[in-house]
Amino acid sequence: MFVRTATASTTAVALVGAGALLLPAADRTEASAQRTNPVVVAHRGASGYAPENTLAAVDAADALGIDWVENDVQRTRDGVLVVLHDTDLKRTTNVEQIFPDRAPWAVKDFTAAEVAKLDAGSWFGTQFTGVRVPTLTQFLHRLERNRQKLLLEIKSPGTYPGIERDIVRVLRKEGWLDRSHVRDRLVIQSFGADSVRKVHALRPDITTGFLGTPAVADLPGYAAFTDQINPSYATISADYVAAVQRLKGPHGKRLRVNTWTVNDAAKAAKARAFGVDGIITNYPDVVRDATS
Ligand code: G3P
Ligand code: CA
Repeated sequence: MFVRTATASTTAVALVGAGALLLPAADRTEASAQRTNPVVVAHRGASGYAPENTLAAVDAADALGIDWVENDVQRTRDGVLVVLHDTDLKRTTNVEQIFPDRAPWAVKDFTAAEVAKLDAGSWFGTQFTGVRVPTLTQFLHRLERNRQKLLLEIKSPGTYPGIERDIVRVLRKEGWLDRSHVRDRLVIQSFGADSVRKVHALRPDITTGFLGTPAVADLPGYAAFTDQINPSYATISADYVAAVQRLKGPHGKRLRVNTWTVNDAAKAAKARAFGVDGIITNYPDVVRDATS
């Protein structure tokens, strides 16, 4: 397994963690007995250091030796999948300046060519001027170039009927549904349980995650279609994490827990003590240092 880490100890951590977290279904062995450190996932890329959900944020994670990158996927008016968190373009691009008459500037109302004209870097820092909103295809290419892995979030699935099928189509076209990607390098998650269910139905081999904190009594229902329960840090306890991990998911492996968004060392240490499998963070170096 490809690992880029700076020290022998962190390399060992990454090797154990990479085998433990992302759970790809096929031949994952139960590694929990050996697992000591949660896997670190760069939230929207290393978004503490570069504009979120851009190729610059992917590269920033890579420069820190972080394999796993989380992103947010939506769809343009002409059906192109793009990587962006908010359902409108205002906060992270100069859309109001370039298209002043297009309020409320919803992603779904713009074509891919229009989105490609926007500056998605200047808001974060002048050194990122000219950085663009990537398409999912461009994002996958950059991850592939860097040999990184993807925790793909389907954002606001109710806004984009059929987006699950579109995502699967792009992943297949770009070679991300071959055995090695599905086993080791891809997880698809959403706050929408129906969306996660659809992904599981379309491609049962893909590892899936539900974003949220279902009641313990409801967890067995989720375990029918999701391999991960990924809750906000503010909602979890050691007992909750253990309750999730006691269950087996659709691939017969125990459910995993990846918590978000943990950006400081104290919370990272606490999440680790709770027994989580992964931590999603804007500052992956800080979390790695605090948990290894
Ligand atoms: O991956 C977890 C996290 O990204 C969910 O929240 O709003 O940052 O997409 P959000
Ligand atoms: Ca997200």
